[in-house]
Amino acid sequence: MNLIVLGLPGAGKGTQADRISQSYGVPHISMGDLLRNNKDFVTDSGETVGEIIDAGNPVTTKTSSQLLSKRLDRPDCDDGFVLDGFPRWKEQAEAMEEIADIDAVLILNVDEENIYERLTKRRVCPECGSQYHLKYDPPEEERVCDECGTELVQREDDTREGIKERIEWQQEGIEEIRDFYEDRGLIEDVDGNQSIEEVWEDVQEVVEKYD
Ligand code: AP5
Ligand code: MG
Repeated sequence: MNLIVLGLPGAGKGTQADRISQSYGVPHISMGDLLRNNKDFVTDSGETVGEIIDAGNPVTTKTSSQLLSKRLDRPDCDDGFVLDGFPRWKEQAEAMEEIADIDAVLILNVDEENIYERLTKRRVCPECGSQYHLKYDPPEEERVCDECGTELVQREDDTREGIKERIEWQQEGIEEIRDFYEDRGLIEDVDGNQSIEEVWEDVQEVVEKYD
């Protein structure tokens, strides 16, 4: 199955895509992680990917789709993948048509009031990429990654300004994406305002249809 998971910042894309990956044996490809791993890449505008994403701004379709296409070509994606964070607007959805066939687009719908609380209290592991929430999904030992013991950090774009910036451009994009894939009958909506476990229950119901 080739699945896309979308939603505003803090909707739970990474959290739920990780669970899908573990339960259904497909790799989780995060567009944000791909870009964070290529921060030194210089884009056509002369800015590095790092400068763009740390400020909460979108990277161009050209750069993001090139990186994605290369990643999805790797053999671990031959039997499917769960892709989080691409496409974000219509031009990227059109680019996606050239990259891979998609079975379903799962949209996690979340209210803005939940976004800030989720993102300002998120902590990530700079070593292995695991992520936590200080209140809703805390590590066993304070500030330390359960998986590899590394000290947890905050993402550079998880400031109030970085979050506001991301919400602004993503809100418009997600409506374009909805229209694009609704025409193809691929949209699956899930209420992302519930607890992590409740969202997971609903996500599994959707994923079962495509497994
Ligand atoms: P990306 O890394 O994708 O950031 P984002 O879209 O802003 O989304 P987040 O990762 O912040 O949130 P999430 O939905 O994954 O939530 P999570 O599961 O972590 O992209 C970063 C940047 O890269 C972009 O700003 C842009 O610059 C660039 N970029 C990426 N894709 C691009 C593209 N296609 N084109 C161009 N540029 C692109 O959850 C958040 C927190 O909440 C966690 O702490 C988690 O534990 C907690 N949580 C999760 N679910 C729940 C729940 N149900 N209840 C309570 N807490 C929860
Ligand atoms: Mg994420």
